[in-house]
Amino acid sequence: MAKLATPSLIIVIVVLACMISAAFGVADLYRNIDVTWGDGRGKILNNGQLLTLSLDKTSGSGLQSKSQYLFGKIDMQLKLVPGNSAGTVTTYYLSSQGPTHDEIDMEFLGNVTGQPYTLHTNVFSQGKGGREQQFRLWFDPTADFHTYSILWNPQSIIFSVDRTPIREFKNRESIGVAFPNKQPMRVYSSLWDAEDWATQGGRVKTDWSKAPFTAAYRNYNADACVWARGKSSCRGATWMNQQLDATSYKRMQWVQKNYMIYNYCTDFQRFPQGLPKECTASKF
Ligand SMILES: *[C@@H]1O[C@H](CO)[C@@H](O)[C@H](O)[C@H]1NC(C)=O
Repeated sequence: MAKLATPSLIIVIVVLACMISAAFGVADLYRNIDVTWGDGRGKILNNGQLLTLSLDKTSGSGLQSKSQYLFGKIDMQLKLVPGNSAGTVTTYYLSSQGPTHDEIDMEFLGNVTGQPYTLHTNVFSQGKGGREQQFRLWFDPTADFHTYSILWNPQSIIFSVDRTPIREFKNRESIGVAFPNKQPMRVYSSLWDAEDWATQGGRVKTDWSKAPFTAAYRNYNADACVWARGKSSCRGATWMNQQLDATSYKRMQWVQKNYMIYNYCTDFQRFPQGLPKECTASKF
């Protein structure tokens, strides 16, 4: 009896695990993502568990989520182009369509071997961006997969890396700053070449002898309100009222103190007439 129970128990566990991961839509990139450009340079592999984008001298490649969302908590694990990635840019962002679009951006700017990547962030609301903050990472983003998340709810947008918040853009409509809350957005990612500006201000060019350059993706998870036919439907959405608690706020401050390398909110030269309103609003 005991001899029989063991293998069937294993089968039951395997079946359950598959059902659970299918129910949460985890690890099924075929179901959630379309590779949209790059002529075969973007590939979904391992039964939908892994996706790679690549870039060579002819073209880069890109993907987008099948669904549009109006608010959500989006996680994706990325492993960036290793070695000499100078000139390459890996983007990962949410964006709506049209001239007054909203956008929530993370871009990873490559570098020469041994020099750090820059994580560039920005928020566009109703077509207006110019809200750049840039960071170094506290690990090598090419050595392994790390989780990059965007929490977008009506109160704020929180960017996180491995669950550590690095940036918050709060809803400041009360003082006249537009906030992305009306236009549904899709998730996009791309790997492309921007050697004219990406690395050390464009001084370091892409070394095409190292092409193709490849970035890898897995564990896409959109716990989000899906937009279809003019309305959004959410399941659960425990994140809808989520805010930074005191502990995560402290961790964000730690990141900003130690790893932030550019902040538009402290760039007085750029804004001689005064900083953007959201920069001088109270923190809470
Ligand atoms: C690349 O490395 C240099 C030298 O460490 C650094 O100044 C620069 O900010 C890094 N990142 C980019 C994208 O150029």
